[in-house]
Amino acid sequence: MKEYPAIKFLDLKAINQGFEPELTRMLLKISQSGQFVNGEISEKFEKNFANYIGTEHCISLGNGTNALELILKAYMVMGILGKKDEILVPANTFFATFLAISNQGLVPVPVEPDPSTFNICVSSLEQKINKKTRGLLLVHLFGRNAYSDKIKHLVEKHGLKLIEDNAQAVGSIYNETRTGALGHAAAHSFYPTKNLGALGDAGAVTTNDLELATTVRALGNYGGKEKYVFECLGTHSKMDEIQAGVLNVKLPYLDESNRLRNEIARTYLTEIDSIYLTLPKTPEQNQSLSHTWHLFTILVSRRENLIRHLSKMGIETTIHYPIPPHLQPVYSHTNFGPLPITEKIHNETLSIPLNPILTKAEIKYIIDTINNWNGK
Ligand SMILES: Cc1ncc(COP(=O)(O)O)c(C=O)c1O
Repeated sequence: MKEYPAIKFLDLKAINQGFEPELTRMLLKISQSGQFVNGEISEKFEKNFANYIGTEHCISLGNGTNALELILKAYMVMGILGKKDEILVPANTFFATFLAISNQGLVPVPVEPDPSTFNICVSSLEQKINKKTRGLLLVHLFGRNAYSDKIKHLVEKHGLKLIEDNAQAVGSIYNETRTGALGHAAAHSFYPTKNLGALGDAGAVTTNDLELATTVRALGNYGGKEKYVFECLGTHSKMDEIQAGVLNVKLPYLDESNRLRNEIARTYLTEIDSIYLTLPKTPEQNQSLSHTWHLFTILVSRRENLIRHLSKMGIETTIHYPIPPHLQPVYSHTNFGPLPITEKIHNETLSIPLNPILTKAEIKYIIDTINNWNGK
């Protein structure tokens, strides 16, 4: 039987190997320090990450979902958002973005995306703004910046809070400003598969708003700014020293690894020429990091056939995401209105391997295997 190369969708073991021996040295140092939470390593990460993103404040948290939730909750504590206020959100995002809104008693208002970029469609966005609209949760999906001057204009015109979901786009840049510093506040995820991935769950909020930063920090500390004094009903969410240490080791390499992702994406965009699928549109500012290619996602109507073909040839793929948030069972009693573009995307979307450790030979093999597929 012919042997085909096995190309994993994402080989986290091999990716983390690339940070040795620095990573193990850091882990050992923390293990021997006796300080596992609320220490100087997470404090250092907050400084490093705020500096990298370009904001005054960074609050390190347990995961990206908490980061989204605590921004929204903080705005409620501050009296800026109230129950039942409407928050605009791209309909094709990961479920956690919706969850964070619904969990605060706010109303997610899904907006259709542009299928060529997978990001929110600005003209559809404008149509959904009404008197109850208070915020826009802008997701930079698959690593691509979703912000634009048009969005800036709409947010200012309607007095909305602009919250970025930067879980997938760390390192992306719009006009010299990094995603995560474009709005009033941003949530980041360092889930292990992300472009900047921890060795477990971790997340953060970045903002230039001191009151918001202080409130988010208190909310993550059970609701208290001081030890054992609680002003509001918060939760418990913090990044531990181990995750912060790992991220401190990895952060200096992030731009280079995003550059490599861009190179691979450009190769895919120029060399994949199958008539059976649609490639994502090339970003306008291709040379800068306007897209950090967390995922390389194509549209293919005969998706099951392509998955089978690639799998037979030893190439692993993933679907992001099989069911859109508005069709999840938990929302079965909510009428979000028709979202045909989102549903078509979810029926046809397929992510092929793209990560900085793919070899030239693997990239060529993936391209050839896709181009040789006859649609069956
Ligand atoms: C777009 C988006 N938002 C939010 C999250 C939630 O982040 P976490 O898994 O760290 O809670 C994720 C991560 O999976 C994500 O991809």
